[in-house]
Amino acid sequence: MNERILIVEDEPQMLRLLGMTLQKEGYQISAAQSAAAAKAQLQAGIPDLIILDVMLPDVSGLDLCQELRRMPTTAALPILMLSALGQVADKVAGLKAGADEYVVKPIDSLELVARVGALLERARRMRGDSAGPRGKVIAFLAGKGGVGTTTSLVSIGAAMAALGKRVVAAELRPDQGQLSTLLNLGTGESTQGLLALDAAQIDSRSISGWVLSHTSGLQALPAPQAMRPDLHLDARQALAIALALTGLAEAVLVDLPPWPSPASEAVLGISDRILLTLEPTRLGLETAVVMAAYAKAHARPAAELSVLVINRVPLASPLAARQIQERLGWTVAGGIPPAPDECARAQQLGAPVVQAAPDSTISQTFNTLARTLA
Ligand SMILES: Nc1ncnc2c1ncn2[C@@H]1O[C@H](COP(=O)(O)OP(=O)(O)O)[C@@H](O)[C@H]1O
Ligand SMILES: [Mg+2]
Repeated sequence: MNERILIVEDEPQMLRLLGMTLQKEGYQISAAQSAAAAKAQLQAGIPDLIILDVMLPDVSGLDLCQELRRMPTTAALPILMLSALGQVADKVAGLKAGADEYVVKPIDSLELVARVGALLERARRMRGDSAGPRGKVIAFLAGKGGVGTTTSLVSIGAAMAALGKRVVAAELRPDQGQLSTLLNLGTGESTQGLLALDAAQIDSRSISGWVLSHTSGLQALPAPQAMRPDLHLDARQALAIALALTGLAEAVLVDLPPWPSPASEAVLGISDRILLTLEPTRLGLETAVVMAAYAKAHARPAAELSVLVINRVPLASPLAARQIQERLGWTVAGGIPPAPDECARAQQLGAPVVQAAPDSTISQTFNTLARTLA
């Protein structure tokens, strides 16, 4: 099967030269002479690599590159930037915009073919890793913090692991992680090294070194606990990490932060299932409505969308499941009962609730949910 390359270049002469050079190597070529034409082509299908000229008639190639990186379908696609500008600053700008390679005009055909070949080989290797059976991605998302999302994720994950599933809990954010505390796995600082990697370096093999094991059988990729404004997680990295984890585990439970980010959008775009957590109060429901719209906008059409109601405190008149379902348009997958003592004991031990208080009502609920999700 020939790999497809989309060339985005407005100069007809250059377009012809590039097209002929790469066609001779056996690639299937398509062309677009503006950013708008390129986007229209991408609607019809995603190529294996994009060659992108910096100077386009409508939008700058740098802007288009940044835009492509924000879209889940092209977030991890190899992009080779092309430009007449040869200054170091221009190269840096290209790479900052998210290009994988930068080639300066006039183009040396041999260099171009070599760079295209290397980029495609790297992408193939990443895909090759994922050729085997892939785990499913379950994204946990809340309208606001403090709902009990991470606590529930950890216990549902551990309960799935107890059923014999390989499960990874992943906190895909650069800082303020809670997973390492809840599972007594250090400070999450070990993940720093992973965040420093470029998306192209992340695959199932390389990621296994960052995944930690808990005695419950749950595996975890915790975010650093500290405030780290110096660390970032972009959409390509998040996508590469999530995909790499699906090569390691049958279920990847991703703890997304309750605010929008390109990284979250990339993960939502590949999730098989999205679990929206909320407390059954008016504020809980209204913040969930906002988050549900956000999640829906980025989810795959085939993704299963449902709600997990967490009753952290016993309420005299909590919102009914039917009321929640009607307002959100998402089905309620389950309800978690209040269990402050069990949750506190679990935190004390650095273990999931299902391990710290296995016979409690809340643990039974987690076990039931794990069976439906596994
Ligand atoms: N079902 C529950 N009953 C009582 N307390 C809970 C329950 N679930 C979580 N908690 C507590 O609520 C607090 C916030 O939980 P956490 O999982 O960190 O929320 P989030 O991830 O949504 O910010 C924690 O102290 C946790 O122990
Ligand atoms: Mg949390």
